[in-house]
Amino acid sequence: MCGIVGGVANKNIISLLLEGLNRLEYRGYDSSGLIVLSKNNTFDRVRSLGKVKNLEDNLKGRVPLIEGNIGIAHTRWATHGEPSIHNAHPHISKNSVSLVHNGIIENYIELKNDQLSNGYLFTSETDTEVIAHAIDFAMKSCSTLIASVQLAIKSFSGSYGLGIISSKYPDQIIAARKGSPLVIGIGVNGNYIASDQIALLSVTNKFIFLEDGDVAEIKIDKITIYDFEGNLVKRPVKISKLKLGEFDVGDYDHFMQKEIFEQPQAIRDTLESRITNDSILISTFGFKAEEIFNKVTQVQIVACGSSYNAGLVAKYWLEDIAKISCNVEVASEYRYRRPILLNNTLFVTLSQSGETADTVEALKEAKKINSSITTLCITNSAESTLTRLSDLIFLTHAGLEISVASSKAFTTQLVALALLTCSIGKLKNTINKKQEKEIIDGLKRLPGLVSEALLQENQIKKLAIKFKDKNSTLFVGRGTMHAIAMEGALKLKEISYIHAEAYPAGELKHGPIALIDRHMPVIAIAPNDELLEKLKSNLQEVKSRGSQMIVFEDENSMVKPMEAMEVIPVTSNLGRITAPIIFTIPLQLLSYHIAIIKGTDVDKPRNLAKSVTVE
Ligand code: G6P
Repeated sequence: MCGIVGGVANKNIISLLLEGLNRLEYRGYDSSGLIVLSKNNTFDRVRSLGKVKNLEDNLKGRVPLIEGNIGIAHTRWATHGEPSIHNAHPHISKNSVSLVHNGIIENYIELKNDQLSNGYLFTSETDTEVIAHAIDFAMKSCSTLIASVQLAIKSFSGSYGLGIISSKYPDQIIAARKGSPLVIGIGVNGNYIASDQIALLSVTNKFIFLEDGDVAEIKIDKITIYDFEGNLVKRPVKISKLKLGEFDVGDYDHFMQKEIFEQPQAIRDTLESRITNDSILISTFGFKAEEIFNKVTQVQIVACGSSYNAGLVAKYWLEDIAKISCNVEVASEYRYRRPILLNNTLFVTLSQSGETADTVEALKEAKKINSSITTLCITNSAESTLTRLSDLIFLTHAGLEISVASSKAFTTQLVALALLTCSIGKLKNTINKKQEKEIIDGLKRLPGLVSEALLQENQIKKLAIKFKDKNSTLFVGRGTMHAIAMEGALKLKEISYIHAEAYPAGELKHGPIALIDRHMPVIAIAPNDELLEKLKSNLQEVKSRGSQMIVFEDENSMVKPMEAMEVIPVTSNLGRITAPIIFTIPLQLLSYHIAIIKGTDVDKPRNLAKSVTVE
């Protein structure tokens, strides 16, 4: 959470800072701000509440216009202190140090008390302000800015990605990271920093991804990096393949809609070069994958949000098809509960961003618990903390996902997990050649099936109207469809602010059925599988309580429409792998259109952020 961008260049930096902030808004948008060193080396700061657009408007009103060749900027997702101007970054200490921060300083109260007794004044309720004062204090005993930062950070516990400037050192930015991501962009006429390379694509495609504990001194013509112990280090320069065009919403109204409709291509891209006509290429998980998967006796999946829901689907697949035991857990719980990790466990992290703090920490924790395990990350982000920490890497090729609510990242994760299931099943001989070919055929049909499911948009738009005045919705499904129901419920609450929960249909009678009346719609997913008849009985139970029902079915499921029940055939002849992916599509469309009717900010829903880099 929170996005930071900064730069030192041979020209005015303001437009780059604003452009960078706009691209980083997915990380939070409670407030934003920027600061530059003006010609006489004094700070010039502007901060605004809400989205970056407000900061832009605020800057336009400034006479004279703010200018500077060195500056830092921030878009905030509030953790400590309400969203307000005085809590917005950048923060300043004694007109000497200013900084932007992504992360949480956990011992800030203790530090604050010390600093108060040393005469420092506080102007915010943030945890960040102590960092500025700590650096200013360190400057009294250090001869360089970087040495002051290196000294100050020794006193912090928690996480930080930092961009720091000082009026006493007007030629440099100091960057430091621990836990939170930070990248250096190498330009022709300047050097830059950002939480994510996408902020800097208009000035460079050359990046250095800082490692945990690194501190860097960035000047217009020189970059020097030290590790946490203070050793001078060299980090590789990587060339980014990302293109600016990916930030364009094109003919769509929102990025979420665009990303929903990009799914056929995203799935095609994720499958490319990973399957042949009749088999899966196991080496797609890494050249040692075959040897590793052969030894694996259980799988532990850890993830958050939609990625967690994808993991839940995979549990059914891995146990049913590959016959390997699989546990799935939300990362924020896993990392703190001292779990048991047996030898020969494949530890899988699932994450669109590869930066979710809880998922990263859960992975680190797992390695501490049992260093013999093999780790695999399935992510959409090639240069991320998770890829750096994992033994095996599988990149979903979903392309840039900008909307906070995940769509194509989720379905491509499912494709990756289907390939994982098939790979392990093949090596463990739980699937034969014929079954492997059937799975491959199903995967190849997916882009076409998704396109067909997308054709229902108009019908779903009409359904969405029914939710205009609803406060609560129940999603039900059985087997993998319970996980898909969870994803449907998550989408609905994220973007339409309607309370929604998902239940395994067989569990309704143990509680949630008490809630059902005509004000609470029930959405059911009815694939044509071995639990269909049981699901139909569950639907009868719901109907008897007067609920309005919407059933998304496989044409062959032949759910009989009843009064107050709408049955929508999504497609037909889906298999165990294709069904959960395809039934996701109408649920995405439904949430999207309900959100449109409710007039919410679809791509940037309130209180949320796309990349959750604080715990
Ligand atoms: C946030 C996003 C979700 C996402 C989750 C996990 O909550 O809003 O869309 O599923 O983080 O993110 P990750 O990048 O780890 O998949």
